[in-house]
Amino acid sequence: MVKIAVSGKGGVGKTTLTAVLAHLFARDGYNVTAIDADSAINLPSALGVGHVKPLSELKDVIDERVRGPMGTYKLNPKVDDIFEDYSERNEDGVRVLVLGTIEKGGDGCFCPENAFLRAILRHAIFREKDVLLLDMEAGIEHLGRGTAKGVDLLVAVVEPGMRSFETLERIEKLAKDIGIERVGVVVNKYIENSRAKGLIERVDHPVLGIIPYSQDFVRADLENIPPYKVVNLRPFVEIKNNLLKMVGEV
Ligand SMILES: Nc1ncnc2c1ncn2[C@@H]1O[C@H](COP(=O)(O)OP(=O)(O)O)[C@@H](O)[C@H]1O
Ligand SMILES: [Mg+2]
Repeated sequence: MVKIAVSGKGGVGKTTLTAVLAHLFARDGYNVTAIDADSAINLPSALGVGHVKPLSELKDVIDERVRGPMGTYKLNPKVDDIFEDYSERNEDGVRVLVLGTIEKGGDGCFCPENAFLRAILRHAIFREKDVLLLDMEAGIEHLGRGTAKGVDLLVAVVEPGMRSFETLERIEKLAKDIGIERVGVVVNKYIENSRAKGLIERVDHPVLGIIPYSQDFVRADLENIPPYKVVNLRPFVEIKNNLLKMVGEV
């Protein structure tokens, strides 16, 4: 069982990577759950499913299950039925959930949505051949320590460029702050260039793989086709294998 969070600056390719990994893990026989925790919800379409009701819209359900009497919170709200009722499966059998917009409240935030997400991360995995992928934005402070504890590995996606690498530094610090021990880096939209090479060499986390820039991704997006149907999967297979090595699954 593996729980992987994918983070990075907007537009670097988090959703693309999450969708392709979900496809590859499903192809290998894993039972895959993919959660869109980015406020720009686009994981469902990248996985070829239609609208998925965001969990944040279930505010009443969440409140009812998380809030105890007199302003207390339940640490273990019931969430198992949510998986059946509020998720969609794509043609690979990947289960897709959408978190929607959750309140940002710093590390100490204990909003009901967070308690709910934590419970989902805890309950998501019960079998050995399960994989959970979390597609999220760069600012994940609001998830806090408790949520991050359930994550085995944070994959930071970067493009070869200064701004993206600055984000990487923030992500590394954040991972440390919230207690994620393993961070792997994926370089996306790579175009052969000596400066880019230099940037990548300076990364002090394992580089899981490098995905070349290709018009195929742009075309997939334009035509609303899941990327794994048109792009070269080879770099993604390598990333998947390195991920499994890093979390000690192989
Ligand atoms: N390797 C790549 N080469 C070219 N375009 C890419 C590549 N990876 C992703 N893209 C494109 O970049 C855009 C942003 O990707 P996306 O996965 O939505 O990023 P994020 O989820 O980080 O915001 C999309 O149009 C996608 O098709
Ligand atoms: Mg995205």
